[in-house]
Amino acid sequence: MAKTIALLQQKGGSGKTTTSVNLAGGLRELGYKVLITDMDKDKPDAWSWAAKSDSMKSIAIQLDEKQAREEISKLKMQYDFIIIDTPPNFQTAALKAALLADLVVIPTAPSGMDLSGLLEAKELAQTADRPYRLLANRLIKNTMMGRSLLQVLADDGHAFETHIPQSVKFIEAEAQGLYIGEYEPNGNSHRAVKRLCEELLDFFTMPSLSVKEIKDRQNKTQPASRKITA
Ligand SMILES: Nc1ncnc2c1ncn2[C@@H]1O[C@H](COP(=O)(O)OP(=O)(O)OP(=O)(O)O)[C@@H](O)[C@H]1O
Ligand SMILES: [Mg+2]
Repeated sequence: MAKTIALLQQKGGSGKTTTSVNLAGGLRELGYKVLITDMDKDKPDAWSWAAKSDSMKSIAIQLDEKQAREEISKLKMQYDFIIIDTPPNFQTAALKAALLADLVVIPTAPSGMDLSGLLEAKELAQTADRPYRLLANRLIKNTMMGRSLLQVLADDGHAFETHIPQSVKFIEAEAQGLYIGEYEPNGNSHRAVKRLCEELLDFFTMPSLSVKEIKDRQNKTQPASRKITA
């Protein structure tokens, strides 16, 4: 049964889609079967990102919120992880994603608006009685806003140790429809994403796979990209 991870942030542009796609790529690189379900019907950016490249297009589908519960319970049988990308402003899709999640991930960039969005997302996760983890995204160390973001995360006590840096490589990877590990293997950004994925495996107490296990699993094909709508 797949573990379901929902990316939630009320603030637009905080990194929900970028984190969804790169977590999916990173967990797949570690040998796990992963699907992104894009529930942002107005702007299905994760689906559009993946659709741009052969290597990623089998990894994402669009999912209508009306069918979310039923579809996700079916998809859970086929994958190790299902990552749900959600729209900003807590539209119904985001609320449903929170209820369906085994873990809510709250990406937050160093800005005042992102920090208030973080509090709203955390409140939503707690109301839905779901565990959550805060993630510093677009972090520029040694800036005042960067330091205050890290302080908020430390005070909360439910944050990933890994921080995702501000890097143009994420934007360039998106332009080509690639996972950061394909676009710039072993660069700083790729290494950060891999550490984040290892933290997720620890959270779910799932094992790190051996190189042989990873190769065997990667040789198995994944279902083609498709759209599920009402
Ligand atoms: N770590 C990063 N470094 C540099 N740019 C980033 C990073 N994370 C995200 N971005 C860029 O910031 C912009 C917004 O990111 P993204 O689309 O992931 O946010 P979002 O929360 O999904 O937005 P929306 O709420 O509109 O769906 C994109 O152009 C993306 O490439
Ligand atoms: Mg998005």
